[in-house]
Amino acid sequence: MSLPISLDDHEALARTRLDDNAWAYFAGGAADERCLAANRDAWHALRLLPRVLRPVAGGHTRVELLGRSLAHPILLAPVAYQRLAHPDGELASAVAASAQGAGFVLSTQSSLLLETVARAVRDDDDRGPLWMQLYLQHDTGFNRELVRRAEAAGYEAIVLTVDAPCHGARDRERRAGFHLPPGISAVNLATLPPRPDAPPAPGHSALFDDLLTAAPGWDDVAWLLAETRLPVILKGILHPDDAREATRQGVAGLIVSNHGGRTLDAAPPTAEMLPRIADVLAGHLPMLVDGGIRRGTDVLKAIALGASAVLVGRPYVFGLANAGAQGVAHVIRLLRDELEIAMALCGVATLDDLPADLLC
Ligand SMILES: Cc1cc2nc3c(=O)[nH]c(=O)nc-3n(C[C@H](O)[C@H](O)[C@H](O)COP(=O)(O)O)c2cc1C
Repeated sequence: MSLPISLDDHEALARTRLDDNAWAYFAGGAADERCLAANRDAWHALRLLPRVLRPVAGGHTRVELLGRSLAHPILLAPVAYQRLAHPDGELASAVAASAQGAGFVLSTQSSLLLETVARAVRDDDDRGPLWMQLYLQHDTGFNRELVRRAEAAGYEAIVLTVDAPCHGARDRERRAGFHLPPGISAVNLATLPPRPDAPPAPGHSALFDDLLTAAPGWDDVAWLLAETRLPVILKGILHPDDAREATRQGVAGLIVSNHGGRTLDAAPPTAEMLPRIADVLAGHLPMLVDGGIRRGTDVLKAIALGASAVLVGRPYVFGLANAGAQGVAHVIRLLRDELEIAMALCGVATLDDLPADLLC
């Protein structure tokens, strides 16, 4: 295949490089993968109405986020087990993000230590935000320790993922017999004490009577806010009332997300929920979005719907599989270049005052 010139090209190339096991894990979604497809379709369904003969010289893609000025509004979403895609794993992704001025969010289920990843990039002056994603575990002491480690390592915010109290029904993974190969694991969870088994009883549900007994609730959001000096961002918000409650609790921002279609297959696409969450937040909190963003025009549409920034997941992992850090950097650069082209063709010089009728 010739050199990839789009994010979809990276995906097609990655299909030829990843084995069936890793491909099922990275490319798949839940159940019939309708949500996975709907995320992309919803961005496609939006149209940008260009203006002509506008002054765009000197324009730029800079945005403000949590008190920082970023070169552009693209972050890399937390994706687990990246050493399945490339031996350099999360280290390559973080270094590439840093080189491209993109934000990087490390997964709790990273296949490299959070300290190793942070150390490689935290002193780079031009890097984007470095955030740590948190899945709360069943052990409060362990959670506290993980947060302390993230703070000490130099992460600047905690992204608490709230939309995955359990896995979705991942049919594609099950068909492929997905497994983690020897040597790849969630190394940051290595010291997590085992969850006490619920005593078997008639009618016992492995989900409701066992796994979900330790599932986080709003109390745990309050706990985290009190526990850390870092800003807390909730990831996985779709319902306006949840956005309202999150605001009431004092979080620093929200990520409108359906986990890239990997949890509830019947969930709505993020592009559809974005305007409703934007109404609730009314510009008081930063709102980010992910799910199906594959083009610079998608990024512009997200900003036009009120997002401060976007995250991409699978595309950069495909770049990672194709060419390590260089592949990730290429994916970010492609998306940013496309964003600049989209802005220029829409007659938009900056992202902070997009015309109200840009979307039609
Ligand atoms: C293979 C894979 C693993 C993921 N792991 C995590 C994770 O550990 N934590 C998390 O909050 N989200 C995780 N996500 C969800 C992403 O952060 C993000 O919400 C999603 O990938 C965005 O959709 P996109 O892939 O269409 O860009 C994962 C997604 C994929 C594809």
